[in-house]
Amino acid sequence: MSLLYSSTRGFANVADYRQAARRRLAKIAFDYLDGGAEDGHTLARNRTAFADVHFAPRAMVDVSHVSPAAQLFGYAAAAPMTVGPTGLNGLFWPKADELLARAAMARGVPLALSSASTSLLEDVREAAPHAELWMQLYVQKDRRIAESIMRRASEAGYTALLVTVDTPVHGKRDHDIHNNYRLPLPITPRLILDLLRHPHWALQMARQGTPQLVNLAKSLGEAPDLQRQAAALARQMDLALAWSDMAWLRKHWKGPLIVKGIMSVEDACLARQHGADGIVLSNHGGRQLEGAHAPIEVLPAVADALGDSLHILLDSGVRRGADIVKAVALGARGVLLGRAPLYGLAARGEAGVNHVLTLLYEEMVTTMTLLGCTDIDTLHERIADAQPGTSRVASAPAVQPNVTVAPRAVQS
Ligand code: GLV
Repeated sequence: MSLLYSSTRGFANVADYRQAARRRLAKIAFDYLDGGAEDGHTLARNRTAFADVHFAPRAMVDVSHVSPAAQLFGYAAAAPMTVGPTGLNGLFWPKADELLARAAMARGVPLALSSASTSLLEDVREAAPHAELWMQLYVQKDRRIAESIMRRASEAGYTALLVTVDTPVHGKRDHDIHNNYRLPLPITPRLILDLLRHPHWALQMARQGTPQLVNLAKSLGEAPDLQRQAAALARQMDLALAWSDMAWLRKHWKGPLIVKGIMSVEDACLARQHGADGIVLSNHGGRQLEGAHAPIEVLPAVADALGDSLHILLDSGVRRGADIVKAVALGARGVLLGRAPLYGLAARGEAGVNHVLTLLYEEMVTTMTLLGCTDIDTLHERIADAQPGTSRVASAPAVQPNVTVAPRAVQS
């Protein structure tokens, strides 16, 4: 039997990369990347909910050719995964967004760039000319900022737009309060000690300078000034964003329009009703509403309600190829990866991202082979007529809508 797994410097899985990221990053940066809201219950639930889904494999199926290839909004991806949008990546490695895009391009999966990126969206396109790039958008009160980002992204060949709707305010993140996390990083004795303990990271940061939210600055027409950009981002989020604004988004974005941060059947149906091409079931990696369900728990009911009428993507808690298989088996088109590639990036730069994506791909292939599924359509078909909780391929604990206090994504 051939050794399938690429073994690189002893990194066997995403958790190994997390440990390496913890060692290399200053605590203030690692906590920002790794932490969740308040007591971390939702953050932890995102993982245990995946563990609570169990497979029912089929034997004696010809699995000599197994492929997790997937179509994501018309793009032929190597696997049903996308490097998800995460802000402030420059805190983890210089030119982080460019490196993430290059790794996504090399592995044949899309990358969604955050509008809070620390590289210009145009520079990311230049660094990864053949990458499938999507753009994430936070809608701020001054709608001209969003309009400018949409125009620039379209001109730079970004194909899809993800509008994040679960962040009218930031979730309460106690670790950031303890660490006195703010931007630019405040030079306190505590930070200096943190830097001395993580000299490689400190040197890298000293050489590159403080990362800037350059995309927002460009669309604001402002000179780079991180403090002002960060304050503007926090202060100016448009709390009045509502479903009726989908028409405005549609006017400015002609490609696939995806609403990110849906956590209920009701909102999934509203997204469809208002012309979205896709949704991302997401609790923002457990960083926003503490007490929310895990998206994988909500997925069967949403897939049941929407059928094939919309692309359903999912994020929050994906750390294994088997998690991706579970999400697809239960009705998702694919997943977004937030922390997993960032652990790779923080540990080893572009090589780390590449390896994390490879590990997830290889784990998917192993899982599908052991399940007796040769492609992801087989996975999907096998549960197509099954009730959530009783599918032949995977079963998840059913969410009981009656006891679910469902957050509304945007006010309707
Ligand atoms: C931003 O979206 C964050 O979760 O920090």
